[in-house]
Amino acid sequence: MNAYTSNVATGAEGAQAFPIPDNVYAETVTEVRHYTDRLFRFRTTRPASFRFRSGEFVMIGLPNAERPVFRAYSVASPAWDDELEFFSIKVPGGPLTEYLQKVKVGDTILMRKKPTGTLVIDALLPGKRLYLLSTGTGVAPFASLIRDPEVYEKFEEVILVQTCREVAELAYARELYDDVVNHEFLGELAAGKLRLYDSATREPHPRQGRITDLIDSGKLFVDLGVPPFDPSVDRAMICGSMAMIKDTKDRLERFGLVEGANNAPNTFVVERAFVG
Ligand code: A2P
Repeated sequence: MNAYTSNVATGAEGAQAFPIPDNVYAETVTEVRHYTDRLFRFRTTRPASFRFRSGEFVMIGLPNAERPVFRAYSVASPAWDDELEFFSIKVPGGPLTEYLQKVKVGDTILMRKKPTGTLVIDALLPGKRLYLLSTGTGVAPFASLIRDPEVYEKFEEVILVQTCREVAELAYARELYDDVVNHEFLGELAAGKLRLYDSATREPHPRQGRITDLIDSGKLFVDLGVPPFDPSVDRAMICGSMAMIKDTKDRLERFGLVEGANNAPNTFVVERAFVG
């Protein structure tokens, strides 16, 4: 155990202090931003020794119990960033997010030391067009990837797709897209390459419907002005709920794309968006 302890929002009056376990980094929250009553992002300091590949996830917890609850969170910030960013759902009564949603600047976040994950460029064969297909907080690993210069070196076109229930939930990815295209150095790399295609399912929206339905109707391709998925040029990453992954994977496989992994790169990869 480390010598020091930390107070953090526990949702209860008079937060209790617990020792920080040895095998984790204890980082400080630098920014918290609530988008809706279901979604928020937070940023933390980054340990100097922490290395990860854009698209990977880490286990996050709070020092609010002797044995803290950890949940997998995709790192939403790019590998070059001095800070770490995470995008989270708020699950009422969730063992971690019930407390995590109350963190404030200056609070301590625990992070296990080893990042991992399949949504990495190395798990895909070279291609021309990269689809990043997400629902809800599944956009987080892609927030990292679209801020990574390597993506623009490897692909001619990068299409960030996100479906959410409500229009307000699309704000995080919209801002991200604007930040990238207006960024002094990423903007130049992403110019003419990065595209955002978002849709809402439970509110009126110009592109209403689930990503799966937009693929089935062909509206996705018509709107983007691109041919349907083609395994010779198109690559994809999927991140969403178990059901969304299964349904989206089915569509890609129908077009002849094949699931890959770190040790067996292919034309698409998947990862579950984590909640809790
Ligand atoms: P819907 O509103 O029709 O359920 P959630 O917030 O529940 O994770 O959902 C995020 C978005 O993912 C919602 O727009 C939801 O649509 C959509 N979604 C849920 N299940 C699937 C699925 N199996 N395939 C594609 N999209 C899905």
